[in-house]
Amino acid sequence: MLSEKLQKLLNDQINYEYYSAYTYLAMSAYADSNEFPGIANFFMIQAQEEMEHAKRIYTYMLSKGGDIELEAIEKPKKEYKDVFEIFDEGLSHEQEVTRRIYHIADVALEEKEHATMSFIKWFIDEQVEEEESFSLLVKKAKRALDNPAALYLLDDELASRTLHPAAK
Ligand SMILES: [Fe+2]
Ligand SMILES: [Fe+2]
Repeated sequence: MLSEKLQKLLNDQINYEYYSAYTYLAMSAYADSNEFPGIANFFMIQAQEEMEHAKRIYTYMLSKGGDIELEAIEKPKKEYKDVFEIFDEGLSHEQEVTRRIYHIADVALEEKEHATMSFIKWFIDEQVEEEESFSLLVKKAKRALDNPAALYLLDDELASRTLHPAAK
């Protein structure tokens, strides 16, 4: 059985994953309305991934007999200055997610809750990828700030992202 503390943290993380999905959905809508269909595609898939993360925690909690408690999802930001800002805020957002995941890992370790330590490892690894991919996009978006051709290329590149890419 999970401690009350871990159940609360995992429930909060379910909420934060949905908030992440909402944030990325808002970014997708922003990109779409500014005529960047590739960037919109990237964030739409990002949003779908975050919902899968929420589902992963939900399923884990159920398997441990945890008490699921869903809270209201905070309203995401709607207006952005430019596409650079959405990537930059995406990176900060992922850094915050990492901080939260590390906190869950810290508590699981403190409580010697080995199953949760093992479970949360997937998220620790996932966050390395998330931060790496956003860092790269921030660099590319920065270069494209005053360069419409580079921005077009970036949009084009992101148009090909799929939800579950085939293993290479
Ligand atoms: Fe996530
Ligand atoms: Fe993420």
